[in-house]
Amino acid sequence: MASFEKRDKRTHYCTELSAANIGERVTVLGWCQRQRDLGSLIFIDLRDRTGILQLAFDEKTDREIFDMAFGVRAEYVLCAEGVVRSRGEGAINPDLKTGEIEVAVDRFKILSVAQTPPFAIVDNTDVNNELRLRHRYLDLRRPELQKNIIARSRISKLARDYFEKNGFIDIETPTLIKPTPEGARDYLVPSRVHPGKFYALPQSPQLYKQLLMYSGFDRYFQIARCYRDEDLRADRQPEFTQIDLEMSFADEDDIIAINEGFLKYLYKEFLGVELETPFPRMTWAEAMDRYGSDKPDTRFGMELCDVSDLVKNSEFSVFSGTVAAGGSVRGINVRGGGHFTRKEIDALTEFVKTYGARGLAWYKIADGQVSSSFAKFMTEAEIAAIVERMDIRDGDLALFVAAKNTVVFDSLGALRVHVAKKLGLLDPSVFNFLWVTEFPLLEYSEEDGRFYAKHHPFTMPMEEDLPLIKTDPGAVRARAYDIVLNGTELGGGSIRIHTTEMQNLMFETLGITPEQATEKFGFLLEAFKYGVPPHGGLAFGLDRLVTLTLGLSDIRDVIAFPKVQNASEPLSKAPSRADESALRELGIAVVRSEDEDEENE
Ligand code: AMO
Repeated sequence: MASFEKRDKRTHYCTELSAANIGERVTVLGWCQRQRDLGSLIFIDLRDRTGILQLAFDEKTDREIFDMAFGVRAEYVLCAEGVVRSRGEGAINPDLKTGEIEVAVDRFKILSVAQTPPFAIVDNTDVNNELRLRHRYLDLRRPELQKNIIARSRISKLARDYFEKNGFIDIETPTLIKPTPEGARDYLVPSRVHPGKFYALPQSPQLYKQLLMYSGFDRYFQIARCYRDEDLRADRQPEFTQIDLEMSFADEDDIIAINEGFLKYLYKEFLGVELETPFPRMTWAEAMDRYGSDKPDTRFGMELCDVSDLVKNSEFSVFSGTVAAGGSVRGINVRGGGHFTRKEIDALTEFVKTYGARGLAWYKIADGQVSSSFAKFMTEAEIAAIVERMDIRDGDLALFVAAKNTVVFDSLGALRVHVAKKLGLLDPSVFNFLWVTEFPLLEYSEEDGRFYAKHHPFTMPMEEDLPLIKTDPGAVRARAYDIVLNGTELGGGSIRIHTTEMQNLMFETLGITPEQATEKFGFLLEAFKYGVPPHGGLAFGLDRLVTLTLGLSDIRDVIAFPKVQNASEPLSKAPSRADESALRELGIAVVRSEDEDEENE
């Protein structure tokens, strides 16, 4: 193997070269994508992060170099010097950026050899994910992933530029912090110096960014790593990145405006897309009512329709019984869904069952023929009223769920998107941004029989709802908002509490005693004594923002080294057992290990 010398340094990236460089002497470096041996001719497709360039070796090439090129295999690392020349008629490859040219190599080095990789470095691979992630450094050689990772870098840069230009100061906050109260999702880090005590990795910089407002920084931002020990999904990772910001002396409109400005700037600079601002806003209650979701995809209609009042007296007890029990009956009208077969409707029924619905009632008209799972139990007048309200026409399929409201919303909200996907109604070239506002302040946990803060316990309640906080806490709305893009929550934030009285009221509502409050948030309450400006902020999920901006669906495709479903990292095989001696020093005894769990299964 040859050594890498000063004169081997690259003069151009592969795709920087074009017909304009014909006749120039260049040095290029990269990996062998493919070697083709045509007897007296050898071609090597050289790949670097910009793309592919053809290296040519022929009878005029020095024998030693020709022989070396003959032995080159996929993924060898190469250095080639030579003169750019035209490929000539017939040999032009219009699919390649450098398809008109090649480099006639006269100096050549193999810098590193490679075994046959476990999968070919090509896009559109159907190689299984686990194998790809185990060899992520190879997977990351694929042009598509390189493009995503480079795009992410550019999007981060645009975020920094925008927020800096708007007077935001980039401040790092600690990542070894105090565990959050009830922080079931905290990753804990043991302290060697304080045996038996733990730091937590931050779920977000929330408290520190608030403290920075108390300090007078006025506008803060940070591209911050966050950690949450929660179940993975296509849009969730245990560690992820936020574009996090906070502003003093600001209300919802200021925060919304600055972030709309950011998205407008990003889309213009990155995609050349002119977003129209202000974005529409919708209250949480309206979003639930119309879309069954607090992050509605508004690229298509198919809105939920409440028919509870029309069916409450019907003979069909599934409907009337549900309404009597305080639930509701709602439906969606799938325009043009009349062609769905029974089998397809059965599959939709299974789909809604995963959201807790007991079943799916349906009514369809195909070629003037009505069929329905429930019409026979209802009067003509009842059916006519439903048909009219939902505007069910020939060719349509109406789908209904009867259940308690949370289940109706969850199941129909998801079904709406599921059916839209099936019907190809989700246009990837449309970017429907939407602010969802006035979220409930609290969320009731039936399991624990108590309220929790829906966003976090520092979110300001809406003043007009305060009288309800003792009598009907669930009805109190928060000064909280989310930014939604095509059905995904991109970011969220709120106006914060900035007085001791309000913070204490909130703790009391959450059942946190003054002693517990002092123990957990003493520093925050103490800080309230010394002059706190009104403030609020928001955080975008950077991974999600990049994913959606690139039109992708899995955040793993924009993270260099993502975790898999069980929160492990297949390449390094993290997490792993710690050394006995390390544990001893930390004062930690492991009472239950994964290995034992596996043995017991
Ligand atoms: P929130 O918890 O809503 O707010 O998070 C803000 C945004 O971060 C992204 N996000 C995630 N992305 C990937 N994987 C995850 N596990 C994950 N969890 C959240 C989402 C989400 O909208 N401190 C507050 C913000 C504030 O109030 O200013 C916060 O963290 O895109």
